[in-house]
Amino acid sequence: MSAPADFGGAGDEWWRSAVVYQIYPRSFADSDGDGIGDLNGITAHLDHLAGLGIDVIWLSPVYPSPQDDNGYDISDYRDIEPTFGTLADFDRLLTGVHERGMKLVMDLVVNHTSDEHPWFVESRSSEDNPKRDWYWWRPPRDGGVAGRSGGEPTNWESFFSGPAWEYDDQTGEYYLHLFTRKQPDLNWENPQVRRAVYDVMTWWLDRGVDGFRMDVINLISKDLRAGALPDGIARDGRVLGDGAPHYTDGPRVHEFMAEMHREGFAPRGSTYLRVAETPGVTTDHAVLYTDPERGEVDMVFQFEHVNIDHGVTKWDVAPLDLVALKASMDRWQRALATTGWNSLYWDNHDQPRVVSRFGDDGRFRVESAKLLATVLHLHRGTPYVYQGEELAMANVGYTSIDQLRDVESLNFFAHAVAEGADPEQVMAGIRAMGRDNARTPMQWDASQHAGFTTGSPWIEANPDHVEVNAAAQVDDPASVYHHYRRLIALRHDNPVVVHGDFVMLAPEHPALYAFTRTLEDVTLLVVANFSRAELALDHADLPDLADAPLVLGNYDSEVEPGTALRPWEARVLRHRLPVESPPSPR
Ligand code: NOJ
Repeated sequence: MSAPADFGGAGDEWWRSAVVYQIYPRSFADSDGDGIGDLNGITAHLDHLAGLGIDVIWLSPVYPSPQDDNGYDISDYRDIEPTFGTLADFDRLLTGVHERGMKLVMDLVVNHTSDEHPWFVESRSSEDNPKRDWYWWRPPRDGGVAGRSGGEPTNWESFFSGPAWEYDDQTGEYYLHLFTRKQPDLNWENPQVRRAVYDVMTWWLDRGVDGFRMDVINLISKDLRAGALPDGIARDGRVLGDGAPHYTDGPRVHEFMAEMHREGFAPRGSTYLRVAETPGVTTDHAVLYTDPERGEVDMVFQFEHVNIDHGVTKWDVAPLDLVALKASMDRWQRALATTGWNSLYWDNHDQPRVVSRFGDDGRFRVESAKLLATVLHLHRGTPYVYQGEELAMANVGYTSIDQLRDVESLNFFAHAVAEGADPEQVMAGIRAMGRDNARTPMQWDASQHAGFTTGSPWIEANPDHVEVNAAAQVDDPASVYHHYRRLIALRHDNPVVVHGDFVMLAPEHPALYAFTRTLEDVTLLVVANFSRAELALDHADLPDLADAPLVLGNYDSEVEPGTALRPWEARVLRHRLPVESPPSPR
């Protein structure tokens, strides 16, 4: 491999050529029949991941938690949620992962804790408790009545509907919670809080984990520059406003991230994976977070491309505008081309299933799932596969709120209907965007509950598991699973996929997604048809494809080079750049 400088500033750290697989433990595999996935269930299925060629597993939270937000509300950072197992189970899982040559990263949720975490229990107990300042406590705003609507210290709306402040009559003050009222925000201004977080990280790294995915970590620095936390802008005469500008990529966030690196990782002298979940991050901040020289994190999860089909809120769903999607993807490829690194993802536990969202989950489910995978995995960055994505698991088609379990969807439904919205219309938004689409049981086989549990699952399996399941796909070389396996192998075997420069072609074409990746004298050309209609490869941006051999495609049957793309067809072609003649001497 060439020296790092040859890759435009990017080095050759292991995570640049890695592919990460996200497990949502609650929904992956239940080993004890209680209807909830657990660690032993994961351990039993590690060969599914090793067979795919996965390098890293990211485990969504497995710590003790009241499960108000399915584990993103942690009440003890140094143990395992009993329904998921024990620390001994965890150690066995970690050993199984390492034995297969894979790594394991934990979810670090430290913008907030559970309100049942002992730190918060202490903090809320009195105004002079030593941990009072570990959270954001504020009196009612001037002129506001404590505990009454409008008394909140700022007008910020929580991500999960309603005000971001909860009144606590024990001390007559409000505490801040950007998420549910059971997820109070930690006060990172307090150095003791930061120390406590770094100690937690060290505890898990000592146990052998290989890094962290850091939950909403760009929200940890709230903007105090004006002295008090400012109100946000409220749209359409609403009472609640958007606080995001006052806590997204806040004034001290880079200082905190650099400190976290210095205190948590730097002394260990090993390369961990540090991925920052950063909603609302700008490209400029993403460069700052991921510039290796600054020592903050290795890569970010940005959200622009998965917000592309949102209206005013995520629940107002717009059809996919491919031109806008390409523009966004291109913008991020360019922004991090020379400094920094990005994560590549379509799916995770917060997003609807991509085959339903940007693909065609009817007649072209297999083709469109493979196409989406091909396009994503050929970009520059580290790809993430979310459980079931490798099987083309699809949205459920929810029709009744009773089928839902997610606090975000349930709160949104309750608030919207209380404000007079049409329940059918509200359900249409949830059907398309609800997070439970991603949280149905992993589809292992065609049996009852998709082979996820022998008991009664905490959320119903998608009925399509009778056709869409791992058992059917692992033995079928033409399956979506094997297409993912091939894409992962392609990345492992070809430095151009990891390090190559990215150039978007035909950006204004409404159905063609085309780009090149080039490293030294190797160019890969990706052409993909986001439609059910045939698509001629005659766009002026495309080079002559007659001699370009197919490296990987998503159709079984061979096709003559250069012929029109079939519905949802994607091809990766190898293309030799014309040798440039040396500049003529003067
Ligand atoms: C982002 C996580 O991905 C999401 O699932 C969670 O609800 C919020 N952060 C709050 O922790």
